[in-house]
Amino acid sequence: MINILAIESSCDDTSAAVISDGRVLSNVIATQQVHEQYGGVVPEMASRAHISNIIPVVDLALRQAAVPADALTAVAFTQSPGLIGSLLVGAGFAKAFAQARNLPLVAVHHMQAHVMAHFIDDPKPEFPFLCLTVSGGHTQLVLCKAQLDMAVIGETIDDAAGEAFDKTAKMLGLPYPGGPLIDQYAAQGDPLKYTFPSAPMPGYQFSFSGLKTAILYFLQKQQKDNPDFIAQNLADICASVQYTIIKILMQKLQKAAKDLDVSNVGIAGGVSANSGLRAAMLRAGEANGWKVFIPAFEYCTDNAAMIAITAHYKFLAGQVADLHTTPSARANWQHG
Ligand code: KG4
Ligand code: ZN
Repeated sequence: MINILAIESSCDDTSAAVISDGRVLSNVIATQQVHEQYGGVVPEMASRAHISNIIPVVDLALRQAAVPADALTAVAFTQSPGLIGSLLVGAGFAKAFAQARNLPLVAVHHMQAHVMAHFIDDPKPEFPFLCLTVSGGHTQLVLCKAQLDMAVIGETIDDAAGEAFDKTAKMLGLPYPGGPLIDQYAAQGDPLKYTFPSAPMPGYQFSFSGLKTAILYFLQKQQKDNPDFIAQNLADICASVQYTIIKILMQKLQKAAKDLDVSNVGIAGGVSANSGLRAAMLRAGEANGWKVFIPAFEYCTDNAAMIAITAHYKFLAGQVADLHTTPSARANWQHG
């Protein structure tokens, strides 16, 4: 039996999970509220919150899983990418735990783990599998030939899709992270009320900074005529922005699936919790004959279960790290 304790601390969520032979026994997530008032994650506060949360979160994950520490097979942690002060807390904890218990250490790439979230529950994707990973920091099209054999075939040249949601929310006066709130308001709005640009990008590239600027100018212009424009039209603005972001994402995903002749297609990352994107995926699946994969909500946004499942496959492949391994803030994709 392979029992893995995994730690995720790349941004502002402190999470620990225990999996046994690939089955999730616990997945504890402590979300940090402290950043809400600042309209974004404050790195130093995130590090401090991780330090105060990490022991209770790990302790709870082990207790919920009912796996004693001496029954663990390996310890895993998020190595990159992320905020370096946040990553250091998880890495330091995992290394100390591994050393104290004489356990192997497994280092996991956060973006690979978002894709691997699809290998937690059944049914699991078959290969080749095309995954659109959309989070607060990344927007990537990933082609998977096997669990650990992945290649990024396209990504954003500027903002991530989650950032487009969060920055729009900030302009609308909504707290951070605004993605889930835009999703909620959009449900009551008209997605075709306002039109925003979705400039064509070459190949499998994405761009969201032009959209952000267009939204800013649109809001400034409307507010000049009517200072209450946002409050009076919040649902329609949210629905129209969300519609545009989803259109940009789905166009590239459909193009890549067609070009590469892939029929197992999924979404991952925090933005895959968006109800409009989930619905668009189901529609595209029907239209294109895809097998669609959408992770359970708890495995969309940052969580340690996805780190644990990635570590499970890496451990099976003999990919263990030595205790000198350091985390890295860089996003460089690590194959395998
Ligand atoms: O994957 P994640 O938890 O963290 C990163 O690795 O970045 O993604 C967080 C992002 C944030 O931008 C957040 O606003 C967005 O995911 N998000 C959503 C929704 N839930 C989370 N965006 C749109 N609709 C949602 N329901
Ligand atoms: Zn993430």
